Amino acid sequence: MNPQLLTVSYLAAGALFIFSLGGLSNQESARRGNIFGILGMTVAILATVFSGHVGAFEKFVPAMIIGALIGIVIARKVEMTSMPELVAGFHSFVGAAAVMVGFASYLDPTSQLEGADKTIHEVEVYLGVFIGIITFTGSVIAFGKLSGKISGKPLMLPARHWLNLAMLLACIYFGYEFLSAESHSSGVVPLLIMTVIAGIIGIHLIMAIGGADMPVVVSMLNSYSGWAAAATGFMLSNVALIVVGALVGSSGAILSYIMCRAMNRHFVSVILGGFGTSGGSAASSDEEAGEVTSCSAEEVAGLLKDASEVIIVPGYGMAVAQAQNTVSDIVKKLRNKGVNVRFGIHPVAGRLPGHMNVLLAEAKVPYDIVLEMDELNDDFPDTDVSLVIGANDIVNPAAQTDPNSPIAGMPVLEVWKAKTCIVLKRSMASGYAGVDNPLFYKENTDMLFGDAKDSMTEVLQHLD
Ligand code: TAP
Repeated sequence: MNPQLLTVSYLAAGALFIFSLGGLSNQESARRGNIFGILGMTVAILATVFSGHVGAFEKFVPAMIIGALIGIVIARKVEMTSMPELVAGFHSFVGAAAVMVGFASYLDPTSQLEGADKTIHEVEVYLGVFIGIITFTGSVIAFGKLSGKISGKPLMLPARHWLNLAMLLACIYFGYEFLSAESHSSGVVPLLIMTVIAGIIGIHLIMAIGGADMPVVVSMLNSYSGWAAAATGFMLSNVALIVVGALVGSSGAILSYIMCRAMNRHFVSVILGGFGTSGGSAASSDEEAGEVTSCSAEEVAGLLKDASEVIIVPGYGMAVAQAQNTVSDIVKKLRNKGVNVRFGIHPVAGRLPGHMNVLLAEAKVPYDIVLEMDELNDDFPDTDVSLVIGANDIVNPAAQTDPNSPIAGMPVLEVWKAKTCIVLKRSMASGYAGVDNPLFYKENTDMLFGDAKDSMTEVLQHLD
C-alpha cells in the first residue's frame, strides 16, 4: 500500500474513533457510536495488514482468527455484572503488548537508527515498557480484586509512599543506564531490571486501593492502557495506534475525574491508595438507628397506586436479579394511572459506568424519565414513594453523616427524604463497599425482602 493511502486510512480510522466516542456519550446514539468504532477498527487493522510492513501471513492470519473467535465467545458469554473485571483483564493485554513490542523493537536486529533518532526511539521504548508493565500488573491485580479472587482490603505497607518513590527513582536511574548503554546486549539489562521494579509498582499501587475506589481504578487503568498503546504507536511509527491510544488515554483520564467527583474523592488520594477499606459501623454510629420494618408486595403496590410522585433508584441488585423488564412494566402501568415516575441514576450505580442506563434502555424505559442524581436529588422531599431496587451504597445516608465511613463524602441519592422509602433486597447484607446502611433503620423506610425480580413480579400482579 502506498504511504499516502496508509496515512489517509489511519486518519479515517482516527476520525471514526472520534465519531464513535461522540456517539457513545448518549444512549440514543450509542449503537451508532459502536458501529463507527467497529468500522474504525476494521479500517485500522486492514490498513496495517496491507501496509507492507507485515509479513509471515501464514502465522499472522490464524492468530488473528483465533484471537477474534476468543473475543467473540467471551463477549457473548460475559454477564453485564462481570464487565469491570473483563475490562481490567483486557487492559492487562494492552500493557503486556506494549512491553513485548518495546523489547522486540529494542532488540530488532534490522534497526538502522543512529544519533538523535536512536535516542528518541530508546526513550519511547523505555517509557512504553514502563507504562505497559504498570498497566499489565496493575490490571491483573484489579482483575483479581474485582472478581473477588484477591481481598478488596487495601494493603497498607508502612512507608508505602516512600517505597513507591524509591522504586520510581530506581526506574529513573536505570533509564539513565539504559540510554547510556553501548550495545543492545548491555542495554537490555537495565531495561529488564526496570520492568521488574515497575511491575512491582503496578502491583503495589493497585493493592493499596480499597474496594470502594475500584471503579476509579478501572477507568484509571483504562487511561494507562491508552497511553501504553500510544507509546507502542510511537515505537512502531503507527499513526492509528498513537491516535487511538491518545483518545483512550485522555477519555479514561476524564472518566476517572468524573468518577472521582461522583464519589467525592481526590484523584491523587485514590491513586495513592488506602481509601475504601471494607468495614465501618455506620449503623451503630447513626443516631436514628432503630427497628427494621418490612412490608409485603401488596402493600408496596397499594402505596405506588396511591402516589402521585415516585422516584425509582436502581442499583447492582436490579442487574443481578435481571428485574429491569418487570420494573419497566410496572412503570408503564403507573404512568397509565397518571403517576409521575422517574428514575434516579447514581454515576457509580451497579458495577460499570452507565450500567443502569444500559439495563433500562434494554427494557425500553423512555429516556426522558431516566435522570442523573444531580437532576432530581432536590425533589425527594416532594416525592411520595422512593423505590430502591437492589441499591445500597449509593443511597447510604452514612456518606453524609459519618465522617469515619469508608464512603464518607460520596454524594448519594437522598431517598430517605421521600414520604415513604421502600428498599428491595434479599437480606440485611451490605453492598460493594462493605458498610452498614442506616437507611434500613429509618422510620419511613420499609424493606421488601426477596429477589428483586420476584418482588417486582408480585408488585406488578397487585397493581391491577
Ligand atoms: P451495592 O452497594 O453493591 O448494593 C447492591 C445490593 O443489591 C446489595 O446490598 C444486595 O443486597 C442487593 N442484591 C444483590 N442481588 C440482589 C437480588 N437478586 N435481588 C435484590 N437485591 C439484590 O450496589 P449499588 O448501590 O448499585 O452501588 C454500587 C457500588 O459498586 C458502589 O459502592 C460503587 O462504588 C461500586 N462499584 C461501582 C462500579 C461502577 S463503575 N458503577 C464499579 C465497581 C464498583 P442483598 O445481598 O441483601 O440482596
